[in-house]
Amino acid sequence: MDPVHADFFAGGAGEERTLRANVTAYDRLRIVPRVLRATGDRDLRITLFGTGLATPVLVAPTAFHLLAHPSGEAATAEGAAAAGTVMVVSMAATQPVERIAEAGGPLWFQLYPQPDLAFTEHVVRRAEKAGCRALVVTVDSPVFGRRERDTRNGFTDLPAGLACENMRDATGRARDIVMDPGLGWDRLGWLRTVTGLPILVKGILHPADARLAVEHGMDGLIVSNHGGRQLDGAIASVDALPAVAEAVGGRIPVLVDGGIRRGTDVLVALALGATAVLVGRPVITALGGGGAAGVRDHLRTLTADLDHVMALAGARRPADLTPDLVAVAR
Ligand code: FNR
Repeated sequence: MDPVHADFFAGGAGEERTLRANVTAYDRLRIVPRVLRATGDRDLRITLFGTGLATPVLVAPTAFHLLAHPSGEAATAEGAAAAGTVMVVSMAATQPVERIAEAGGPLWFQLYPQPDLAFTEHVVRRAEKAGCRALVVTVDSPVFGRRERDTRNGFTDLPAGLACENMRDATGRARDIVMDPGLGWDRLGWLRTVTGLPILVKGILHPADARLAVEHGMDGLIVSNHGGRQLDGAIASVDALPAVAEAVGGRIPVLVDGGIRRGTDVLVALALGATAVLVGRPVITALGGGGAAGVRDHLRTLTADLDHVMALAGARRPADLTPDLVAVAR
């Protein structure tokens, strides 16, 4: 991979404190296993918004897959489908959602609501028609994070010939994605009138916002700091999870992403209240190294690792994972 693109994928905002914290937070969380109770077969399947998944590990929305592999997002979709899970297609995908949907599914579509409401609605319709089963609205990006690796590398635009294919308007031009500081809960209310798809808000860290998400009729939320790419210094996502899960109180599914690398990380996140997790950078690395098969194998390996550590921790099902199984190491 071009080192400039590798930096784009790997990097975070500012000093990359939050990027590192997402991973190191899991180092401090230790599993307190149960014994002699998880007898019988394990079953990792979950159901989210009516879709049955083979695993609670989903693919997070990430931009520009054609920079990682010549088959792009379509290969990621194929790999996720083969692993029996959801790929969340980024609004900054370099292939059209219709093409990605041909390669695999189930898909969800990630949206940065644009100030142009008619255009936003047009994008939602495309995602719906392509068969996407939920919308993921990213709310942690009123402005663009300062990614210093990209600034140093002069990486500001996609190379010639590549575009955000889902940003094409009626004239065929690919618009720039606008990070909208005017985005508020009212716009999510508007979005609710536009689509019947389940809506998840992505980028919740504060329990008060989690409560507001429920009150505004959101169908799910994703505890996330955008993989440390937006507010450097933001709390690690797994550290934010328990208070958010408590605020939500089981009313809607809570998902989490950021720093999840091993089965034990997934186990801890599920124990602390997540219904499912999403993985970002490792999927891009797998895509770059092995295309669709690489993505499939990565997701299967992570799922097999989860299965293994669940056996060791005394859990048969995701629902067996409860907060008492996690302790903070001193
Ligand atoms: C992202 N992320 C992201 N999120 C989003 O809502 N829309 C997007 O277009 C992108 N694009 C994007 C590009 C790249 C290169 C990365 C690494 C991340 C954030 C992503 O969905 C997720 O929150 C994090 O990647 C999770 O952290 P890990 O798994 O990468 O540690």
